[in-house]
Amino acid sequence: MRQLAERPRSGRSRGRSAGRLAGTVAAALALTVGPLGAAGFAQETGSDVQAKVDNPYEGAQLYVNPDWSAKAAAEPGGDAVANESTGVWLDHIAAIEGTSDAMGLRKHLDTALQQADGKPIVVPLVIYDLPGRDCAALASNGELGPEEIGRYKNDYIDPIRDILQEYSSRTNLRVVTTIEPDSLPNLVTNTSGQPGGTPECDTMKQNGNYVEGVGYALAQLGAVGNVYNYVDAGHHGWLGWDSNLQPSANVMFEAANASGATPADVHGFIVNTANYSALKEENFSVTDTVNGQTVRQSEWVDWNQYVDELGFAQGFRQAAVSAGFSSDIGMLIDTSRNGWGGSERPTGPGPNTSVDAYVDGGRYDRRIHVGNWCNQAGAGLGERPQASPAAGIDAYVWMKPPGESDGSSTEIPNDEGKGFDRMCDPTYQGNARNGYNPSGALPDAPLSGKWFPAQFQQLLKNASPPVS
Ligand code: BGC
Repeated sequence: MRQLAERPRSGRSRGRSAGRLAGTVAAALALTVGPLGAAGFAQETGSDVQAKVDNPYEGAQLYVNPDWSAKAAAEPGGDAVANESTGVWLDHIAAIEGTSDAMGLRKHLDTALQQADGKPIVVPLVIYDLPGRDCAALASNGELGPEEIGRYKNDYIDPIRDILQEYSSRTNLRVVTTIEPDSLPNLVTNTSGQPGGTPECDTMKQNGNYVEGVGYALAQLGAVGNVYNYVDAGHHGWLGWDSNLQPSANVMFEAANASGATPADVHGFIVNTANYSALKEENFSVTDTVNGQTVRQSEWVDWNQYVDELGFAQGFRQAAVSAGFSSDIGMLIDTSRNGWGGSERPTGPGPNTSVDAYVDGGRYDRRIHVGNWCNQAGAGLGERPQASPAAGIDAYVWMKPPGESDGSSTEIPNDEGKGFDRMCDPTYQGNARNGYNPSGALPDAPLSGKWFPAQFQQLLKNASPPVS
């Protein structure tokens, strides 16, 4: 995973409308049966095809992954959050069947059915195995080479679809998928000619395999009656600038029309996946001025149109509708690690001496730079997962399981394809994607996805709201 700040570009500000249109319950008639993908998976209406609800989180309990829960509970104080729902990352082909240290997809679905006891339950999955994965970073490079779109379809998406289809008659099961974090945003901001663009992202743009892969995932998984696809849409410190926002929504619309997908296969979008951007900056807003200067001029905001994830999620939603998506789409926000509580949390606005003093004195997000993304020092757990917390938002979720590393702080040989990204090295002084700032990463981190007790402890300590 990597998520970065893009340099400022000029542009008009856009509205921040948050209105979520009324639900589509009417569309949930048995006859409409939801979108049926064009890739040979359409079926006649039958008991295994069901209508989708407007917000899958509404009125549902949330699946607790026993693998994560056990690790959390084994940490001092971890019991306080061990019953929260966290994302199940299908981050390589073998994860579908399960490995010695992680349950497979069927086992998760069976366990969810037990937890549900007949009532609605949301199972959050992360679809994360694109060819040439993580093209602007190294820590989460994956098992498939840039050209291996065939394996992605046949060996990764198809088996997941088949398993989900087996369970589609269990109508109380609502499977939420986060579709391929970072991939489409990387096509928008990290190709050549842009600060920090990489040859790897150029390759993925040129060969079209991110767009084709995302389209295929949407089409195949969207055809299953109880699957709700949410496409990853970066975070405010990545796509919040005008020059990035609408182009990103447009690329997502392109992907939603690729490989047999239709926009109806997209239930919504998720922001801040595995990132640290604050939910609401309450001590300043983007329209504030100090001594006649806009806070957008501050070093921290750097001409962004958004200063937090709630505003960004609502703004992105509008951009997506402008791009052609249905006005019924809903947003998810990953609040797993964006709490920024603890003793460093400002209790009010900064001084009115300059835009920088005002913003830096008041902001909750204590990162050195908003483009920092790896194992951030000082971070805390954010809002607990919950349904319908704000206009246009389907849920706050913990898609990144707190306590799992973002990447190793030194090189660690492995057979997962994961590289060593210096953004995870606390001694690194940065690159074009974080404005040449120190990485802000915790030391002694294991490979991405591995349990990192020191990080978990810090997240607990700095939780906001605090854990009780
Ligand atoms: C890693 C995955 C892991 C996920 C959740 C990602 O950064 O690359 O392997 O499953 O984080 O911890």
